[in-house]
Amino acid sequence: MSSKLHPDGKLNPSDSVTNTSGNDSILDLIEARQISRRNFLRGSLGAAAMVAVGGGVAAAAMSSPASAKPVARAIAAAYLRSPSPAGTIGFASVAPNLYLYPADDAVIVPPGYSARVLVAWGDSLSKEANWDPSSAMDEETQLHCYGSHTDGMHYFPFPQAKSQQANSRGLLVTNSEYCDPALVNNVKPFSNYATVAMTLDMVRAQQAAHGVNVVEVQENNGSWSVRRGSAFNRRITGNTPCRISGPAAGHELMKTAADASGKRVLGTLNNCAHGYTPWGTYLTCEENWNGYFSNETGDVVGEETEDRKFVIIKGQTRYGVVKGGFGYRWHEVDERFRADLHPNEPNRFGWVVEIDPQNPQSTPIKRTAMGRFKHESAQLVVDRSNRVAFYMGDDERNEYVYKFVCAKPLNPAGKSTDRDMLDKGTLYVAKFNADGSGTWLPLVWGQNGLTPANGFADQAEVLVKTRQAADRLGATMMDRPEWTAAHPETGEVYLTLTNNNRRGSTPASSNSFDGTTNAGSARPPVDDANPRKDNRYGHIIRWREKNAAVTATEFAWDIFAECGDTLDPDLHHQGNINGDDYGAPDGLWFDKDGRLWIQTDQVGNATGDWANIGGNTMSCADPATGVTKRFLTSPKNCEVTGVISTPDGKAMFVGIQHPGEDWENNYTDNSTWPDSGRNGPTAFSNGPVAKPRSGVVVITKDDGGVIGT
Ligand code: FEO
Ligand code: CA
Ligand code: CA
Repeated sequence: MSSKLHPDGKLNPSDSVTNTSGNDSILDLIEARQISRRNFLRGSLGAAAMVAVGGGVAAAAMSSPASAKPVARAIAAAYLRSPSPAGTIGFASVAPNLYLYPADDAVIVPPGYSARVLVAWGDSLSKEANWDPSSAMDEETQLHCYGSHTDGMHYFPFPQAKSQQANSRGLLVTNSEYCDPALVNNVKPFSNYATVAMTLDMVRAQQAAHGVNVVEVQENNGSWSVRRGSAFNRRITGNTPCRISGPAAGHELMKTAADASGKRVLGTLNNCAHGYTPWGTYLTCEENWNGYFSNETGDVVGEETEDRKFVIIKGQTRYGVVKGGFGYRWHEVDERFRADLHPNEPNRFGWVVEIDPQNPQSTPIKRTAMGRFKHESAQLVVDRSNRVAFYMGDDERNEYVYKFVCAKPLNPAGKSTDRDMLDKGTLYVAKFNADGSGTWLPLVWGQNGLTPANGFADQAEVLVKTRQAADRLGATMMDRPEWTAAHPETGEVYLTLTNNNRRGSTPASSNSFDGTTNAGSARPPVDDANPRKDNRYGHIIRWREKNAAVTATEFAWDIFAECGDTLDPDLHHQGNINGDDYGAPDGLWFDKDGRLWIQTDQVGNATGDWANIGGNTMSCADPATGVTKRFLTSPKNCEVTGVISTPDGKAMFVGIQHPGEDWENNYTDNSTWPDSGRNGPTAFSNGPVAKPRSGVVVITKDDGGVIGT
């Protein structure tokens, strides 16, 4: 399926804080909050991203010596050890979902496991009524209801001193990446959306469907539910006031007619995947934000200087801001999305946004030091020197991999952590060398040609124009960098590269050194890190920092898996997965025991290239052996995205995004999930199903054990 509205290119072509709930009030919890942060450092951080490489441990080669290059082996052998085998992967693989029966339109997990709907788009988070999916969504309703198109997520144990309660009560913070406008506005069939008369009310409802959800969840007698009316429950949307912080805050390139300060912006958009920090905050990453903007005239209205006009237009096309955008049509009634009239408004999107989920009154902060691109996720690693880094992909064909290293080390006591740690540090972009080594190139003003003569007046301009700066440094063009995940023991970072149908095609071209390439337009030749032309099934790459230090500028890399269909007659597309096939890897997460969970985002209807692999999946892999088993299959035409567990690993939350999505036809032609009731009852499962809805399932093991065992 292909749509301008869904540029992931699925390769079948391209507060209220008034507490009326009776729950604990915010004031009751302020004291507990510090306890919670310390627990987080001990628990969630230790289980998810702390590098625990002991000094003097006997070194070994990287865990796939056969595929590692000699230099990589040498670097790895010098100071790294292999990860221990993951905890047991004990479940029986689920069969590919080929959608042969109506019952296949469901989340299917192995025998001995249960998957039940926890929350779905339009479910009320307050005491007010649920949205009725047979009607159009409006802004007021959406502001108290779970957002559209759920994506990356993290679980923050509830502020309680007793550790067991960490596993039964917490804040589930999730992204709502985008929306299907026709579903929001009740336009049938979907194809009519292109010509329907737009109103600002329609757009406001869509904008409210985007953003972030903070949802208090709890378990009682093995059953998880949303605590409706919790004082913590919150929606952050495409219109929530946000603060701009870091080197680009207040810069000329960030000022608009509505914000002369360059430090305030309305909303966060296209919140794809996520991250979390050691100090207890959530990071939401702005991905395909360009698609909401339109440069209607191909001009910069009011700009007299031709040179400046050229720079602005090339800057917009480098990030994919073009006439019409992805077809949301917001610009027709909400003028700030006219990139020709408000050329700096796009500069205020494409950032990592920090949110304090434990303070419902906090203002989200766009952290400009972490760079501006189409952010997929931001994976934390803390090394043994307490240095802090975040690893980030820019999801577009031929874009780059970045890391941000905080200037200050972490204060492990958690008491006096600088709450602006993300404002100061160094942003690097990755160069993958053919010999299995790699280099982190600093995006620092004044170095390596990032100078006024080349269009970079200061560090703020380097950050606003991160892609152009990386072009100049000669970073490696990758096959669409998606999620990053860090092994809990070694700190080794894995990255999904979902696909690239332009890799190896002709005529060959590369992102231009001067930063003038249109987004996604290059046709780079194959290289060692992206070794397949027409890479329709994607691969997973991984790297280890020199001396296991996140401040290193050298690393070793190898490819963990080339994805594919072993039944494909073309050897080129078979891949080398050690176990169950999958393709188009996207979501990626390590659990506390070192199991690697891989989620996919392809067309999801078991046709064409996916006739054998079936719909989208979540698989579980052992990083030491590569053994891979399919754990979950999904409703038709959805993507599986977002995964996290409680600290004990016994409840896993998984996102099901855009079930049944189809930009031509009627809503339930492909899927009636979740109101079909196939994964447990919903508020609307007793009547006819009006619309498929994105949502989160909670997976438990029937014997109460750890998920995956
Ligand atoms: Fe929103 Fe790259 O997936
Ligand atoms: Ca995706
Ligand atoms: Ca994604």
